[in-house]
Amino acid sequence: MAEHITLIYAGKEFRLPLVTGSEGEKAIDISLLRRDTGLITLDPGYANTGSCKSAITFVDGEKGILRYRGIPVEQLAERSTFKETAYLLINGELPPQKELTRFSVLLNDHSLVHEDMKTFYQNFPRSSHPMGILSAMVNALRSFYPELQDLDEETTITVTRLLSKVRTMAAMSHKISRGHTVVYPRSDLTYCANFLNMMFDSPVKPYEIDPDVVKALNVFLILHADHEQNCSTAAVRVVGSARVNLYAAISAGIAALWGPLHGGANQAVIETLGEIARSGNLHQMIARAKDRRNPYRLMGFGHRVYKTFDPRARIMKRMAHVLLDKLNLSDPLLDVARELEEIALKDDFFIEHHLYPNVDFYSGIVLKAIGIPINMFTVLFAIGRLPGWIAQWKESMDDPEWKLCRPRQVYSGPHERPYVPIEER
Ligand code: CMC
Repeated sequence: MAEHITLIYAGKEFRLPLVTGSEGEKAIDISLLRRDTGLITLDPGYANTGSCKSAITFVDGEKGILRYRGIPVEQLAERSTFKETAYLLINGELPPQKELTRFSVLLNDHSLVHEDMKTFYQNFPRSSHPMGILSAMVNALRSFYPELQDLDEETTITVTRLLSKVRTMAAMSHKISRGHTVVYPRSDLTYCANFLNMMFDSPVKPYEIDPDVVKALNVFLILHADHEQNCSTAAVRVVGSARVNLYAAISAGIAALWGPLHGGANQAVIETLGEIARSGNLHQMIARAKDRRNPYRLMGFGHRVYKTFDPRARIMKRMAHVLLDKLNLSDPLLDVARELEEIALKDDFFIEHHLYPNVDFYSGIVLKAIGIPINMFTVLFAIGRLPGWIAQWKESMDDPEWKLCRPRQVYSGPHERPYVPIEER
């Protein structure tokens, strides 16, 4: 008989099936719990709740393992490109050469952005955060490209269009925010080189593409490409479950990623490191983060899933060193980061709370070395996470068990009471 657990409630026994994942992790299937017992589960922040079965990404937070479609992220970071990894995540397998070429051609074909969208950009206030702009613009894509429905081939085009255009749109927002001419994508450049060129090329100072910088950007994007059911991915799945179009679901993901507890942490980390470098108050920052009466948190530390180390952070740290060396740069923030990490890792509070540097801790140093402005850091995270969001959305759409997401609650408000007319209040 299949494994199960027994729940005893109100003098009765209920059998709840156990589900085992391909890596041996177990879950209690409670899908019939309310029907059979009248009970629901309560799990704020869903820390113990599996919302789906997924074949995309495996994370073992205790062992510091991250694999996309079974392949360790370390191997992908070393040997793959972001484009190939995106294909892997979305389609389930690494592409044969012919498929990869077809994918590249499609990405090129869809890399331009409708000229009318430029007007939108020009009308955002100059102080707007690029993440707010990106979320709005991705949602607006549906109005500019409404003709496609959900047929398979059309899904491929919508998906490729998104992957390609988001990169163009991100670079465009940077150029327009500076009052500079937009640089268009080029078909002779690879995905990452194209992005860098659109960001930094200028009529007065042509951008020289450096293969080390292109490699660093590829690795950065690969490390961010998916992370199973995190906050923004859950947002994409939840919004997508209402059968809204893909653009709207991704726009919701971008909005969620913007938060400083999630993707917005990469910007917050570099601001913290900068503040420490300026003021020298490193110990004060640590003390503030440890003070339970103070809501302040040390950005770039801690993770809901990783409790020993974040494998992405290790790769990112190494890359920060390699890149700065290759570019012959020195960044005082790297020294601050190293010192902060060293002190925090020996501190009882951080040890007891399992707080280690996460992917965002060293990523800002890499992005800064590439030349990305600080307010664009989270946009870079969004470009990286896009294939993951798309893969997860696609999986949910194809999943016969996937339903409209609609959690329950335990109501804690007042009992029934009568309406009081305004003159009697
Ligand atoms: N600094 C100080 N204390 C912390 C931190 C931190 N960065 N992170 C967690 N804690 C403490 C927290 O105050 C709590 O303490 P206590 O139990 O004494 O009240 C305990 O650790 C557990 O915190 P939690 O919020 O319940 O844990 P969580 O698993 O929900 O937190 C987190 C995950 C990422 C939201 C949190 O660690 C955090 O806020 N980190 C800083 C923001 C950050 O770097 N986010 C990027 C995450 S990685 C990129 C991504 O995937 O989004």
